[in-house]
Amino acid sequence: MKGQSRYPSQAPRHPNFNEPRAFFRMKRTLLPDAVEDYVSVEMTRETPVLQALRTETAALPDAEMQIGADQGAFMALLVRLMGAQRCLEIGTFTGYSALAVAAALAKGGTLIACDVSEEWTQIARTYWTQAGVADRITLKLGPARDTLDQLIREGARDTFDFAFIDADKTGYDAYYERCLVLVRPGGLIAMDNALQDGKVVDPADHAANTEAIRALNAKVRDDPRVDSCLVTIGDGLLLARKR
Ligand SMILES: C[S@@+](CC[C@H](N)C(=O)[O-])C[C@H]1O[C@@H](n2cnc3c(N)ncnc32)[C@H](O)[C@@H]1O
Repeated sequence: MKGQSRYPSQAPRHPNFNEPRAFFRMKRTLLPDAVEDYVSVEMTRETPVLQALRTETAALPDAEMQIGADQGAFMALLVRLMGAQRCLEIGTFTGYSALAVAAALAKGGTLIACDVSEEWTQIARTYWTQAGVADRITLKLGPARDTLDQLIREGARDTFDFAFIDADKTGYDAYYERCLVLVRPGGLIAMDNALQDGKVVDPADHAANTEAIRALNAKVRDDPRVDSCLVTIGDGLLLARKR
């Protein structure tokens, strides 16, 4: 590409740290660094609370699990376009994607966020409160498969507008099947990490996560129950609209 990234010298400073925002950037996409900076930092509006959450999460050893700012903005845009009222999240971590989605909900909207970690979701709760969206989010601690099965048993079939799947990769197929039951016709299921850092196209890669995602990608592509598209944002976001 022509020219240099404007980072780090001219990058906007995080309000709590005298460092450019790009300092906290993780490599999340297959784009060259400068282009990724342009997309996720220069071209993306991030609220101060989202920025602060990204900064705190960056200090954790598993920080790369957090979605990028541009993906948060993209999912918020989808939720706004749909006028979504009822959303589901499988894999919450420190709460960034949940916060991005919850802030974009239509009036009276709610999000059910599923995770197994009390420790990580404590951080999430702090930032949801700071952002004033805590009352829109119900956190369900426990294996997501059980939570989704319980929602189905309780009669929540066809009631969700949007679901985001971003937990253990070998569990995705089970989450996809349950989300297809829970999401209404015309609703959307978004599945993260569909590219597995490019490993999906490496025929020599037979890691369990790669195999699971490769198989699910092909299944969704051929699934007559949905219209689908693999969007090359972040590590790949596979979108499936229930017919
Ligand atoms: C990639 S992170 C989620 C990142 C989050 N969406 C964000 O943007 O910050 C994956 C999360 O899935 C959770 N997880 C793993 N296995 C799970 C399971 N069986 N049920 C529910 N959550 C699970 C982990 O605790 C972790 O917080």
